Amino acid sequence: MQAWDTMVVTLAMLMPATVDAKIFQRCDLAMKLEEAGLNSFKGYTIGGLLCMAHYESGFDTSFVDRNPDGSSAYGIFQLNSTWWCDSGVTPTQNLCHVECHELFNRHILDDIMCAKQIVSSQNGMNTWDSWSQHYSGHDLSEWLKGCHMYAKPYTTEINS
Ligand SMILES: *[C@@H]1O[C@H](CO)[C@@H](O)[C@H](O)[C@H]1NC(C)=O
Repeated sequence: MQAWDTMVVTLAMLMPATVDAKIFQRCDLAMKLEEAGLNSFKGYTIGGLLCMAHYESGFDTSFVDRNPDGSSAYGIFQLNSTWWCDSGVTPTQNLCHVECHELFNRHILDDIMCAKQIVSSQNGMNTWDSWSQHYSGHDLSEWLKGCHMYAKPYTTEINS
């Protein structure tokens, strides 16, 4: 009986992880962002976006943060259900025209397109609190260390 209960609880805890989620490798995410045209988009670098995503979600597409008002922030860029997506629970502007639960899976093109819209918005990347808190005074190109990008190859290897 005890073991059965434990198993049920364990399975229940594992369920959210089966939502086809993914914790992105830093350079894989960098490449996705580059493919979506985010390199130097509106003056921000991909390093900056990686920095933001790291502090928002740890690159985990299944990350969710619930707010006291009943809204939540979803996915790798923590897009919230007040402004950007529709959770079906609380009122939303749904500016990205997406259902929040779709932001949990490993297919992040919709998340990226929404982030792109946010980057283009009036407050730009300052829309993300983590960005305002963490970007200044840092060399954001460090986030691309070791990543082989198409556009501007960045390498730390020094050939001598
Ligand atoms: C939702 O996102 C907007 C823009 O990022 C932000 O201003 C607002 O505070 C967020 N809402 C909640 C409840 O966190």
